[in-house]
Amino acid sequence: MAALWGGRFEKDMDEIVKQFNASIGFDKRMYNNDIDGSIAHVTMLADQGIVTQEEKEQIVSGLEKIRERIYNGEVVFTVEDEDIHMGIESRLIDEIGEVGKKLHTARSRNDQCQVDARLWLREEIGEIIDELIYMEKVILQKADKYADSITVGFTHLQHAQPITLGFVFMAYFQMFRRDIDRLMDTRDRMNLCPLGACALAGTTLPTDRQKTAALLGFDAPTENAMDSVSDRDYMLEFLSDAAISMMHISRWAEEFAWWNSQEFSFIAIDDSFCTGSSIMPQKKNPDMAELLRGKSGRVYGDLMQLLTVMKGTPLAYNKDFQEDKEGLFDAVDTWKAGVQIFAKMLEKTEFRTDQIDKQMGKGFLNATDIAEHLAMEGIPFREAHNIVGHMVKVCETRGCDFDDLTDAELAQIDARVSKASLGDISIKACVYARTSFGGTAPSEVRRQIKVGSDWLTGLPEQE
Ligand code: ARG
Repeated sequence: MAALWGGRFEKDMDEIVKQFNASIGFDKRMYNNDIDGSIAHVTMLADQGIVTQEEKEQIVSGLEKIRERIYNGEVVFTVEDEDIHMGIESRLIDEIGEVGKKLHTARSRNDQCQVDARLWLREEIGEIIDELIYMEKVILQKADKYADSITVGFTHLQHAQPITLGFVFMAYFQMFRRDIDRLMDTRDRMNLCPLGACALAGTTLPTDRQKTAALLGFDAPTENAMDSVSDRDYMLEFLSDAAISMMHISRWAEEFAWWNSQEFSFIAIDDSFCTGSSIMPQKKNPDMAELLRGKSGRVYGDLMQLLTVMKGTPLAYNKDFQEDKEGLFDAVDTWKAGVQIFAKMLEKTEFRTDQIDKQMGKGFLNATDIAEHLAMEGIPFREAHNIVGHMVKVCETRGCDFDDLTDAELAQIDARVSKASLGDISIKACVYARTSFGGTAPSEVRRQIKVGSDWLTGLPEQE
């Protein structure tokens, strides 16, 4: 079969070239968007008098028939189609005859593939935002449930300060909130229509690009035709959003894996989100957490791949750009599934506060609180820090806790310090007193939950 562009060629493509050149294997995924773009295009051509209204109607009804056939799985695409754009156009010509050949007036596959990709990605962004919103709702429920539960706060993976579990959830809430904000920004910025840019230079025909942009729900047409066909910034931006969000998921997945370990036992991941071992009968492994951690690498790869494809490509369209889609599709699929899996896993995970409690006495978690208390008594903080450091040293030597130090021992460290001057150093009192804005006290966590849930409620419906 001769290609639609075959006029100047004397020979058919070599078989291996056909295979290597074709993008139909993956870009057929955008068939709906391709048809939507074509319908908007031919509507504009008819309104501008470039084709007749009757021709337009024939083309639109032919395209709708093809859409239905593809949807029903009746269309078998092969490398002969080369890509989804020609796959649909050639079927249109088969379906309605000569008039079908008018559709490709004043456009090129260079702008067409970009209209398709923008329309496709815009929809997918809406779906990913929905998944992230669901995740945020699960986080808010957990944060509320555990607003008063006390846990270990780590720095350098060392016991640092006591915090609330609700506070940990709200830290992750902020990360996913930024992911949603970033996605909405990306979508706003990319919502411009490249259709009508043609190959690279626009057209002599009296087209109306504002019209096609409006018909397809874009805010405006892209400004410069050459940039329109060679710009992949919006994909790169999306892939960066995906990489950052997968990094967030991966960080939490890492925490899940060690919280779930025998050494910690802070959580019990539901059986339905774990797998067993083929040899060790007792095993229940946190595979979903590990797999999500691993999948972040693949999404970073998708970003690096496209950055590398783009680097060094001259204006305007180059075939290199066909390599833009598989990584994008992969990132969308991986991210969407990743958020979904993580949210469901989180929803079903049991937080074992009894086990966490057992760790609260280790590592002098209230040391900073004592130093702060001494500072309030008038001892300069640097000195207070030093005093508590000495207290830790004595406790370590004696194998005891701050509570066990005698007035004599304290006086030996510093004459200004006595048991009475330390204040209430119970872990609970320390946590409840950390009411500074953004702090870990239950009252403050509840404020953060309120702000977060107001923000979620105010988010626009995703289409
Ligand atoms: N399949 C191509 C892609 O995905 C469409 C554009 C091809 N244009 C061209 N002149 N070869 O990028």
